[in-house]
Amino acid sequence: MLNPVIAPSILSANFACLGDEVDSVIHSGADWIHFDVMDNHYVPNLTIGPLVCTALRNHGVTAPIDVHLMVTPVDALIEEFIKAGATSITFHPEASQHIDRSLQIVRDAGLQCGLVFNPATPLHYLDYALETLDIVLLMSVNPGFGGQSFIPSTLTKLADVRKRIDAIGKDIRLQVDGGVKVQNIAQIQQAGADTFVAGSAIFNAADGSGANRYDSVMSAFRAELSS
Ligand code: DX5
Ligand code: ZN
Repeated sequence: MLNPVIAPSILSANFACLGDEVDSVIHSGADWIHFDVMDNHYVPNLTIGPLVCTALRNHGVTAPIDVHLMVTPVDALIEEFIKAGATSITFHPEASQHIDRSLQIVRDAGLQCGLVFNPATPLHYLDYALETLDIVLLMSVNPGFGGQSFIPSTLTKLADVRKRIDAIGKDIRLQVDGGVKVQNIAQIQQAGADTFVAGSAIFNAADGSGANRYDSVMSAFRAELSS
């Protein structure tokens, strides 16, 4: 298994001071920044686009920015996020007309690519794509909103994907997104995940307002994980 990665989702951050929020959470030990892009079409919510990713890079953020596209169509926005400084880009296979082409756009730019599966999306999309992926992301809530509860059947699905990744022996990250809390992250890791997105559990747990305000919650998450 790969070393555990914690990727706070800025969806639950304070957008009025986003640069400071990102600096603080990285200061407290976040590995990646998870960047949720919603288009009010593929999902019933509207968030942020490439301009905000560029702004974070210009602000001085050097940590990996993990862009999760909940949009359709996907290809034009992939191009824009490549220019905006994304590190990895994941998208939902059913939102792309040509999955392999969309993955190739990401790979050709030297970024990490991944496919995202909603709770009821079958895994057959992996049949001819798994070997080309850097990340498989399983949604443990229906996409569109932060603060929802973890769907328990994700644990079985994680174990299924873990087996498929181990069978081909490639360093593909198995990421989980939605309802991840201090209380359930250990169980989620045991099911096979190595990369953990958490939004509300981190950004709603600020301890005061200083640069160390996410230290306690990040330490609590880290303490639950075995490396
Ligand atoms: C949901 C997003 C998630 C979300 C997770 O569509 O993809 O990244 O922000 O939020 P929590 O951790 O609050 O469930
Ligand atoms: Zn996400």
